[in-house]
Amino acid sequence: MTRLRCDQTAAWAALQASFVASGKAFDLREAFAADPQRFEHFSQNAPHVFADLSKNRIDAATHTLLLELAQQCGLEQHRDAMFAGEQVNSTEKRAVMHFLLRKPAPAPYFPAHVAINKIADQQAEVEVTLNAMLTYAEQVRANPAITDVVNIGIGGSDLGPQMVVLALAEFATTGQRFHFVSNVDGQELAGVLAQCRPQSTLFLIASKTFTTTETMTNATSAKHWFETQGGQDIGAHFAALTTNVVAANAFGIHTTFGFWDWVGGRYSLWSAIGLPIAIAVGTAGFQDLLAGAHAMDEHFRTAPLAQNLPVRLGLLDVWYRNFHGFSSRSIAPYSSALRRLPAFLQQLEMESNGKRVDAQGQELPFETSPVLWGEPGTNGQHAYFQMLHQGTSVVPVEFVAVRTAGQTLPGHHTKLLANALAQAQALMLGKTDLGGHRHFPGNRPSTFLLLEQLKPASLGALLALQEHRVFVSGSIWGINSFDQWGVELGKGLAIDIEQRLQSGDASGLDGSTAGLLQRLR
Ligand code: F6P
Repeated sequence: MTRLRCDQTAAWAALQASFVASGKAFDLREAFAADPQRFEHFSQNAPHVFADLSKNRIDAATHTLLLELAQQCGLEQHRDAMFAGEQVNSTEKRAVMHFLLRKPAPAPYFPAHVAINKIADQQAEVEVTLNAMLTYAEQVRANPAITDVVNIGIGGSDLGPQMVVLALAEFATTGQRFHFVSNVDGQELAGVLAQCRPQSTLFLIASKTFTTTETMTNATSAKHWFETQGGQDIGAHFAALTTNVVAANAFGIHTTFGFWDWVGGRYSLWSAIGLPIAIAVGTAGFQDLLAGAHAMDEHFRTAPLAQNLPVRLGLLDVWYRNFHGFSSRSIAPYSSALRRLPAFLQQLEMESNGKRVDAQGQELPFETSPVLWGEPGTNGQHAYFQMLHQGTSVVPVEFVAVRTAGQTLPGHHTKLLANALAQAQALMLGKTDLGGHRHFPGNRPSTFLLLEQLKPASLGALLALQEHRVFVSGSIWGINSFDQWGVELGKGLAIDIEQRLQSGDASGLDGSTAGLLQRLR
């Protein structure tokens, strides 16, 4: 499928002209004054998520031009190609079908003319695996002998499940503790093992490839600890979540839950990689998570572009990155349960869209992924919000708030929500009457995403929204959002340096690496 590169479209040129004419000087305060209905005009409902986009530097004309850009870049065709199971991950020659993991079976999903057989076959496999995984999760939940579940995995095999288990703690079984070990720094694993006993611990070795150094090192140490601390029956205490069942078996793990190469690591929490989530929240909770994500899939697949929230967010990202030149986005979840959301989104966005060539390998003359960063509110306010309000760079902020509290302590939730609203308001309005150090320029954009309640379905929808918005900007930029070649170079070099750290051989190394290597020995 050939698509027009975004900067070669008429809409791109029109956006550039419009940015120079009015976009650059756009003032949010004036926009609200000019349109008393601006909130209504720039907010929308999507499944489980209400989005207020009105505090963004965008007007109806820009919105229309961005939608034209999407059309001229073939966004809809690209989206439909993904949902039809085509190999949209072109560099790895793989389909991208994480959406299939959350599609309720057996409802027909595709019109007959689409590649239905291939997808139907895959879906049957998905269902079998999901059922096996949920059955196993229920057995673990019902087993009082298991007090600790230790997930060993990194990247997508850690960030998604960890973030969701923390976010849904309110819905989790109380009988078990969950631990997530990702770093090859043995301090992490040692700290967890110190809290566990072999006979009451279940280790989940989560790795799509079952080759990742950090995970294999931690898994080997965990198995050694288990065996030397009197653990009996690896089969009952170790399970592998992987597409590489052969390697898991060779490692000595025979309880395995598989998935497929069409599930990218950062899109894998919906697959067997989600087993810790299923153990934490049970079958109904996990199914609700999938159902919420599926509702968002359907919204993305079918809603008109103008009312399609992932499309609108992705286009806004392009507008900010390529026209305003904003280089980062700050994520501010006003929910401490969502404290790992920024880390999860960092991988999702930056591993997907942190690319400098298009899907054909041609260098791109424009910027792609912004830097994502953030901390839960209100903590961030007392750390870096100073820079957001008065620093020299404009950083769009994405607030995520939850209307209903997940706890009952009086007063807390109102204060939390008040702070979220106040920060968004202060960023936009600023304060210009005091001057000097007390001057707040304002006109600083933000998006406000609101969930009614933080529960499995709404979290599923929020995460699928983020996945699809990353697809949208990646698609406009013409890049393959589903590979991650950029992580390979350092992995290879680490193998060489590990040997050199043992042998002391610094020959042929650059001066700095050689000097540090000698110091570290
Ligand atoms: O190194 C990057 C990466 O491949 C991520 O894309 C992935 O989520 C992570 O490593 C873990 O990979 P695996 O699940 O194969 O261990």
